[in-house]
Amino acid sequence: MKHKVVTVKNVNKSMNLLRNLQSRSSIIPGLGLIHGPSGFGKTTTVVWMFNQTRSVYVRCYATDTPSSFLGRVLQEMGEVPRPPLSNMVGQVIERMVMDHCSLFIDEADHIVNNTRIMETIRDIYDSAEEPIVLIGMEQIARRISHRKQMFNRISEWVEFQPADLDDMEMLVKELFEINLDIKEDMLSYICNESGGEMRQILVALEKIERFAMANKLDTVDRRSWGKEPLFLLQRR
Ligand SMILES: Nc1ncnc2c1ncn2[C@@H]1O[C@H](COP(=O)(O)OP(=O)(O)OP(=O)(O)O)[C@@H](O)[C@H]1O
Ligand SMILES: [Mg+2]
Repeated sequence: MKHKVVTVKNVNKSMNLLRNLQSRSSIIPGLGLIHGPSGFGKTTTVVWMFNQTRSVYVRCYATDTPSSFLGRVLQEMGEVPRPPLSNMVGQVIERMVMDHCSLFIDEADHIVNNTRIMETIRDIYDSAEEPIVLIGMEQIARRISHRKQMFNRISEWVEFQPADLDDMEMLVKELFEINLDIKEDMLSYICNESGGEMRQILVALEKIERFAMANKLDTVDRRSWGKEPLFLLQRR
């Protein structure tokens, strides 16, 4: 299977989010939120976007403190952190303003309860006024809503949706190494069993591609695949 990012609906919506934030009028706040269940493709999308735009990507950790967080942002910016913390905040703001760059903060669930980190992000945004996008799981919107001053600066958001049949067809067309036709009964089956989760879908598609190559097939439907489980916990 090819290693590439397919521009499924969630990816396009996320690109729009960034475009809207970057081109917003000065009276509109510039925080964004991308959220959705595990394995739906949030990180893949954001890493792909940051590679094609002027932006910085950081991932948060459960052990993060203001110092480790700011240190990581500066490292990603190619800067040497110069403590104290107030100075490091200034360094981040300066680079964001100079480079006109956006900041993506992945796994933000880890920091959403950390008041000092969240307030630091708000300080950075208020001074730099460049887009900052938080990425997290389903519950993150509700959890941020308790932080009024953060929440009301969010002007763009995307909730990742399960992959649908159109997305599946795009994945098949763009990711397979071989010319392989997967019949609709099989595609619907994968879509339903995986709950539209990209991580599971890709695992299933890889198994089917291997199966087709080993058996020299150019078409696979549910009958030709047989009873072999495609998912770790198969419903039927
Ligand atoms: N648009 C895409 N094109 C190709 N592969 C994708 C795409 N989106 C997701 N994937 C595949 O699905 C896997 C899971 O995606 P990803 O890690 O981005 O999900 P996530 O939403 O960040 O999950 P988590 O919340 O667990 O971090 C990735 O390893 C990648 O291989
Ligand atoms: Mg992720």
